[in-house]
Amino acid sequence: MISLPELDYSDKDRFYDDLRLSAKGLVLDESDRIANFANLAALIYHSLPDINWAGFYLLKNGELVVGPFQGKPACVRIRLGEGVCGTAAKDLKTLVVDDVEEFPGHIACDAASRSEIVIPLLRDQQLIGVLDIDAPLPARFDDQDRKGLEAVAEILP
Ligand code: SME
Repeated sequence: MISLPELDYSDKDRFYDDLRLSAKGLVLDESDRIANFANLAALIYHSLPDINWAGFYLLKNGELVVGPFQGKPACVRIRLGEGVCGTAAKDLKTLVVDDVEEFPGHIACDAASRSEIVIPLLRDQQLIGVLDIDAPLPARFDDQDRKGLEAVAEILP
C-alpha cells in the first residue's frame, strides 16, 4: 500500500512544494505513463480540498481522449479548440476559469463543477495532453494554485 501524505493546504507554497515532492516520489521508479498518470490523478484528487474531478486527457490522433482520473465518469473525446481542455491544449497555455458557465463552449461532465483549471502537458516541446481539475466552488483556483499545479505538471513523465 502507498500511503498518501497529509498535506496542509493552509500554507499553499508549502503545500505545492510537498505535493510536487510526493508526485516525484510516486513516479520515480516507474516508466509506464498510464500507471504514473493514474497514481498522480489519485494523489491530486485526494490532496487538494474542494475539488470534484482531477485527471488527464491525452492527445491521440489529434484529439484529446480521457485518461486516468478520479471523479465522476467524463466525456471521452474533446477536439482541440473545444471546451476548456481543448482550448488550453490548442493555445498551449494554462486556463483558469472562475465560472464555467461563463466560458463559451464549456463541456459539462459533472453538473457540480463551477470552476476549472486546465494545464497543457508538454514533452520535448510537444503537447501530450492536459491536466484538468474541476471544483464545485466558483473561483476555486488562484494564481498560487496555477503556479503550484504547473510545477507539479512539469515533473510528469
Ligand atoms: N469541462 C471540460 C471537460 C472535461 S471535464 O471537466 C472532466 C472542458 O470544458 O473541456
